[in-house]
Amino acid sequence: MENFDIEANHGHVPVMRDRMADLLRPAVEKLGENAVIVDGTLGAGGHTEHFLKTFPQACVIGIDRDPNALASATERLRPFGDRFQPVQTRFDGLSNAIEQEEGVVMERAREYGIAGALFDLGVSSMQLDQPERGFAYKVDAPLDMRMDPTKGITAADVLNTYSHGELAHVLKAYGDERFAGKIASAVLREREKEPFTTSARLVELLYATIPAATRRTGGHPAKRTFQALRVEVNGELDALKNVIPMICDRLALGGRVVFMSYQSLEDKIVKKALADLTQSKTPPGLPMDLPGTAPKFTLVTRGAETATEAEIAENPRSAPVRVRAAERIALNDGGDFS
Ligand SMILES: C[S@@+](CC[C@H](N)C(=O)[O-])C[C@H]1O[C@@H](n2cnc3c(N)ncnc32)[C@H](O)[C@@H]1O
Repeated sequence: MENFDIEANHGHVPVMRDRMADLLRPAVEKLGENAVIVDGTLGAGGHTEHFLKTFPQACVIGIDRDPNALASATERLRPFGDRFQPVQTRFDGLSNAIEQEEGVVMERAREYGIAGALFDLGVSSMQLDQPERGFAYKVDAPLDMRMDPTKGITAADVLNTYSHGELAHVLKAYGDERFAGKIASAVLREREKEPFTTSARLVELLYATIPAATRRTGGHPAKRTFQALRVEVNGELDALKNVIPMICDRLALGGRVVFMSYQSLEDKIVKKALADLTQSKTPPGLPMDLPGTAPKFTLVTRGAETATEAEIAENPRSAPVRVRAAERIALNDGGDFS
């Protein structure tokens, strides 16, 4: 294990790595030898490797929907033996996995609940660096963008089959693209000539459609459209909305969940869901919480935490991150955690 070095093997340190361990520490220490951490976005396995090294008593369930990422992280984490259990699923499949999969880690998770969970949202540098996946707009590549390349529709399918209204909605809602309607019209016109297959033609269309003046202030003209297509293809926001109550329900008493968002849409969903979970359901104006209405969770972060300037200088990918965390302070009536 001595030669197991993040820099040597994988090029970079995961975003806010030490802070993530600090946020989970009280929960992991409380659960002691029963502590199970869920890494809902395993990626290259950088955060998980750090958790397994930092918390020698803890086990990790590592989830990724991308079979390539899961295979390479599993290889990286082999030295930790059965303290690590990989699962290939969209992360809102985690409850099914915990209920149905075998192994000591899953047994612990069923018996004691989850001590800590991390969701480092979005795509990984590894995925961006594989041109054939179609996530990057700077190289001509197939318009795929599926995190799990074996399931669902591709970005090309979205471009070639959605109506004008559907496409404009995707671009506006998920990419905050001012020229959504204009781009959708151009896509419909172009696909009549020939369906879209690779990214260069889309990038060219975006250059031609987005006014030059906007290009100077709004960043690369393809950035927002590519983000929107990726969010649509992978159902990213639905997965996030589903997983928040699911993981919170599975937390042990004192258990903590941490979300790292890189887009304002994701952060808004996390902020709202955690606000709901941490508020009393007693109608306002009453002097105390009615039975059963006191919140079962409390916020651990004040507002959203961000990376330090030093980290951003070292790793620009950490610049947009917004971190929010919550802790379970009461179990459901009846004392269980499901
Ligand atoms: C930002 S990377 C995580 C990097 C990781 N924390 C590390 O230290 O290497 C996000 C990963 O989560 C996966 N992912 C994103 N959304 C997912 C979802 N809804 N379900 C399962 N995996 C997801 C992606 O395939 C990608 O590999």
